Amino acid sequence: MKYELSPSILSADFARLGEEIKAVEQTGVNYLHIDVMDGMFVPSISFGFPIIKSIRKMSNMVFDVHLMVEQPERYIEETAASGADIITIHAEACKHPDRAIEQIHQLGKKAGIALNPSTSLHELDYLLEKVDMVLLMTVNPGFGNQKYIPYCTGKVKELRTMIEERGLQTDIEVDGGINAATIDAVLEAGANILVAGSAVFGKETAKNAEKYRKLLADY
Ligand code: DX5
Ligand code: ZN
Repeated sequence: MKYELSPSILSADFARLGEEIKAVEQTGVNYLHIDVMDGMFVPSISFGFPIIKSIRKMSNMVFDVHLMVEQPERYIEETAASGADIITIHAEACKHPDRAIEQIHQLGKKAGIALNPSTSLHELDYLLEKVDMVLLMTVNPGFGNQKYIPYCTGKVKELRTMIEERGLQTDIEVDGGINAATIDAVLEAGANILVAGSAVFGKETAKNAEKYRKLLADY
């Protein structure tokens, strides 16, 4: 299995966003996690497409865009045009996820479906074959630097079993509260794309990115 660290720029210093991204990219990290929040699906508003377009010009990383917005189908085209490589929508925010996933694929992008901590894996019963990635929230979405919710470990395990039983290669991304104290548990449970915001950005960004990149490369 391929393991990837996906540093979340939500915790970056936006006054030095370009430098912060360069710092992680130079360590050899492949993914960049980009959280778009609308103040409706989640309480916060983060940033939108002009920011994604700007950073697309200075980075070759895989742009892993997590849309925490109501009716994400309204923004799929713009997300793709801004330079996203993976577009993840929330099952809870979307009335027609099947159609939205088709649209993402028609635009030539990878499609992810995200589930909040307490949303059942049954949401995936008919979608699992269609998506490239499932993002399991391991905190309630909306803020960086929250505490990992322990029952999510069992959920990751259950999803990995479901994927294996169906003979699929689907990526499992975990998002929220991933740090030195929780990383082993999610890896062991079967996650292979790990978002880390506050554990990477802030002080010593490059050093942190390198630490987790290496840990995953050696896993
Ligand atoms: C939370 C966002 C996360 C956030 C994670 O709603 O989806 O991507 O940046 O931050 P940490 O890693 O600090 O929990
Ligand atoms: Zn996220």
